[in-house]
Amino acid sequence: MLDMDRIPRHVAIIMDGNGRWAKAHGVPRVAGHNAGMKAMKKIVDHSDKLGVEYLTVYAFSTENWKRSVEEVGGIFKLLVKYVQSDLKGLIDNNVHVNILGDYSAIPEDARKSLEKTLAKTSANDGLKFNIAINYGSRDEIRRSVTELCRMVKDGQLEPEDVTEEMIGAHLFTGHEDIPDPEVVIRTSGEERLSNFLMWQCAYSEFVFVDEFWPDFTPERYEKALEIYQSRDRRFGGR
Ligand code: FPP
Repeated sequence: MLDMDRIPRHVAIIMDGNGRWAKAHGVPRVAGHNAGMKAMKKIVDHSDKLGVEYLTVYAFSTENWKRSVEEVGGIFKLLVKYVQSDLKGLIDNNVHVNILGDYSAIPEDARKSLEKTLAKTSANDGLKFNIAINYGSRDEIRRSVTELCRMVKDGQLEPEDVTEEMIGAHLFTGHEDIPDPEVVIRTSGEERLSNFLMWQCAYSEFVFVDEFWPDFTPERYEKALEIYQSRDRRFGGR
């Protein structure tokens, strides 16, 4: 049974397996992403119900540009569709949307949809829903290092005074004061981090589940959180 007194504050999810789900159902890959979007909506709602404070999903990585033009275009069309169909629900449910990643590079209609979502949900103080788009952890750390180097160059900081907190504060998550995730869930049986939140996951628990992302239901989500709750977290201590 899920212990409602020990719900993690921050859950991060690698939504993997849309392509394999599509193949298994004999439909185009974009149809897999569409099914993935529907699964994502349910997990957003359920996170809110469970009292999760921060939910971060990996929607598009800095490496995903290598996919076909049709697939990349299809994912961003879905993003526009998601905002059109769900923005009112997000506002009504007091969800605060954040983007992790440099979304200036994505197609203009998708960027405008995101900007509208950010503006309309910025005053909400319910679930913080962070969507990682054009996100890569190495790119994020590089940006933080660049900002700190600039401070050194401007004489505001000595190199030996750089702290872990400063590096963290200049990450995308630092800009929004997002705490480290207690748990990272990855679907589809793959067991790797794929350039996701590498700095922030230093002490996270990892839960890998076999279902493809479109098949990841709220029930399966609760099971994954039960697995997290069964772990003994020691943070390097005894
Ligand atoms: C990974 O599956 C999934 C993605 C790269 C895209 C995730 C997108 C969504 C869940 C829907 C769109 C939602 C938004 C907010 C844009 P994969 O394609 O790598 O699957 P595979 O490993 O089976 O090929």
